[in-house]
Amino acid sequence: MSYFRRNIEKAEGYQPGFQPSFAEATEGRPQQADVVKLNTNENPYPPSPEVMKVLAEINAEQLRRYPDPLGNAFRQAAAEVNNVEPDCIMCCNGGDELLRIALQAFCDENRPVAYPVPTYSLYPVLANLQNCKTIEIPFDSEFNLPVQLASSTAALTIVCNPNAPTGSFISIDELASLADESAGVLLIDEAYVDFAEANCTELVKKFDNVIILRSMSKGYSLAGLRFGYAIAQPDLITGLMKVKDSYNVDVVAITVVTAAIKDQQYFKENVEKVKAERQRLTEELETLEFEVPKSYANFVLAKSKNRQDASNHCSASEIYDKLVQRNIYVRFFNLPGLSDKLRITVGTKEQNNKLLSAVKEILSEFG
Ligand SMILES: Cc1ncc(COP(=O)(O)O)c(C=O)c1O
Repeated sequence: MSYFRRNIEKAEGYQPGFQPSFAEATEGRPQQADVVKLNTNENPYPPSPEVMKVLAEINAEQLRRYPDPLGNAFRQAAAEVNNVEPDCIMCCNGGDELLRIALQAFCDENRPVAYPVPTYSLYPVLANLQNCKTIEIPFDSEFNLPVQLASSTAALTIVCNPNAPTGSFISIDELASLADESAGVLLIDEAYVDFAEANCTELVKKFDNVIILRSMSKGYSLAGLRFGYAIAQPDLITGLMKVKDSYNVDVVAITVVTAAIKDQQYFKENVEKVKAERQRLTEELETLEFEVPKSYANFVLAKSKNRQDASNHCSASEIYDKLVQRNIYVRFFNLPGLSDKLRITVGTKEQNNKLLSAVKEILSEFG
């Protein structure tokens, strides 16, 4: 007999992308410098120099004491950047913590969560922990917002925008209509929005059922720090705060992310560099006969145009395996609608060039 609740016992848990640097010691893999890591959508550029400055100045007294439970320094700075009041912001230990808090706050056995698929594979994992039903509505082939979402019985609807792993973007007007028609809460997961052309912050002012998720992992190059935040009307924020740990973000994280979000000039330059490489990577992959739909995120979803029935057909999983042999890591999802595609994080120019040469070499092996 298991000590665990039945759904935990049966769960497989979330499978994060492979982290080569952690495995090298135990698996005798090559040093990190040889590895091209384009599998978990990290930003390839370093965080703002301001971040390293404040990090070096953290003192023992700050570490001795508990942190500010609300992270008010960051709330103030994030409020200014997003043109909302500080009480519309809640700090989280990564955007992932906000997802867990939202599921716990709104969902249970009788209160399902709905989302279009394919999308971020953490949503069903968190739903299972909460023992709540999932309403998964497939996107069409162009990743338009499924109309059925608006009439679902979900207590919580999650729309990832830009979506992962497709990189597609749903217009703000469509999400406004969904917020208007939804009986429950609409959480818009904007983890990748820094690389898009628009965001949904304005919807928070119009709708009392909208929560925006933001992450400091992508546009601000701080995935290792674990920091994200919610933007919503104060009543929703107050409710969500009842579910969070009292000290969910630590003093080092609050100090560092506050410096990072204040350095908007560095942030904007960083994002523009990623967007320029995204464009180049897309075009180069297209010349290698990949279909690459326009991406609004820091990754692309590439489908080989090789004919499936051709004798020299090279499947996405074969390309993935051959890239791994060359120490190049991208993401392959063996899931409906995704198993013929590779999700490739936009790297530096040098990393992207290594990937492109390797793909060219692999395809040429197949004639
Ligand atoms: C769609 C999506 N949402 C949220 C997150 C959470 O980001 P983090 O917890 O690093 O802030 C991620 C991370 O990759 C993501 O892909």
